Amino acid sequence: MEKLIVKGGRPLKGKVTVSGSKNASLPILAAALLTDELCVLEGVPILRDVVTMIRILRNLGVKVVQEGHRITLDPSGYEGTEAPYKLVSTMRASFCVLGPLVAKKRQANVSLPGGCVIGPRPVDLHLKGLRALGAKIQVEGGNVLARARELRGTSMYLGGAYGSSVLGTANVMMAACLAKGRTIIESAACEPELADLAHVLIKMGAKIEGAGTPMVTIEGVRRLNGFTHRVIPDRIEAGTFLLAAALTGSTLTISGARAEHLGAVLDKLRDAGVEITSRDGMMVVRPKRTFRPVDVTTRPYPGGPTDLQAQMMALMTQTPGISVITEKIYPDRFMHVAELGRMGAQIKLEGATAIVQGIPRLSGAPVMASDLRASAALVLAALSAKGTSEIARLYHLDRGYDRVDQKLVELGADVRREKSD
Ligand code: EPU
Repeated sequence: MEKLIVKGGRPLKGKVTVSGSKNASLPILAAALLTDELCVLEGVPILRDVVTMIRILRNLGVKVVQEGHRITLDPSGYEGTEAPYKLVSTMRASFCVLGPLVAKKRQANVSLPGGCVIGPRPVDLHLKGLRALGAKIQVEGGNVLARARELRGTSMYLGGAYGSSVLGTANVMMAACLAKGRTIIESAACEPELADLAHVLIKMGAKIEGAGTPMVTIEGVRRLNGFTHRVIPDRIEAGTFLLAAALTGSTLTISGARAEHLGAVLDKLRDAGVEITSRDGMMVVRPKRTFRPVDVTTRPYPGGPTDLQAQMMALMTQTPGISVITEKIYPDRFMHVAELGRMGAQIKLEGATAIVQGIPRLSGAPVMASDLRASAALVLAALSAKGTSEIARLYHLDRGYDRVDQKLVELGADVRREKSD
């Protein structure tokens, strides 16, 4: 295992380029299962979740070649229909092989991804949508067994207790591309990652309208072609660097991000007093001495992203006054609260709401990462804290950030990896 040693207090300087989106890449890689032709995905971030998805696809018989940020997939003649627990359990996005497999191979046996540290993660909406398309689904021994002689288009409502489902919409949208007739998904997720997936499916010959809105219409086709595509930039990585700049009082240029995917985040950061200008694919953050407290509520896109909640909290811990975070997607996603507390943060939890009393400055401490975004929040806190922090269980960060420590070092941060016991 590795840990990250961070000496806090150094401003960042220069330009950082945002990598391709993890959460767009993963379902797009699964979309290769819908065709027999060669697929090429460019700009793929180099991180552990991508490696896991490649393993799952290889296990199904897809030939995959990764050359840096470019992945070539040759699905011709793949015969596998199973995604076993040992591969699926480490990453929930692996569940989105289910829709493509049942659509293309008429059967699938995919392990349930299970819960995780950010709370229960059910798949009822995925199964509801696939059943509506005519798949016969049984859950047995922790596996989802799906069969379909043929999928048929239909109208369905895919909203759940916490709103729409990103990967649920992806699974159903991919399956519906090869169904007979028209499918209408109401309460579809609107995240840019889904619009990017739809963009790929359309390149493959799918007939999709309304992707990126709550109502998506898919006219099924008999077969799909291969694709070449460059994945969209990672809006969560971009947001993480915006916050890193704000917290360290830095002048930082963030290149390659799409400001239009970050509306809610930019709005909230500007409310907090962070000075950000955005032009021609570049965002520039300028240093500010103090910030104003803000209230943040996470919601499905275009609302405030839950994947930046922990990182926003890192900023609030050092903003004078009281800030409030309400988590509407994952009510239990607060594992970072206790660890930020070890650095001196004053945070009270009341159900799905965190009340943060800002202090002038955190102090460095040994802390433990519990999940991907929590570990990013700890890195941000450590960069701004007085003294040195050691962040253990770095593998969480490596699941979802492409060479983040290297990028931080290039920006002048005092950050290094070490083996931990
Ligand atoms: N939900 C259900 N039933 C379902 C599916 C989801 O009730 O069948 C609930 C969830 O429990 C949650 C809410 O609906 O309360 C939203 O979950 P969603 O299905 O949208 O999450 P996901 O698709 O599994 C993706 C991202 C997550 C991100 C969420 C929300 C990928 C690979 N993962 O997960 O990203 O937090 O959408 O935006 O795209 C991360 O990158 O750190 C991460 C966790």
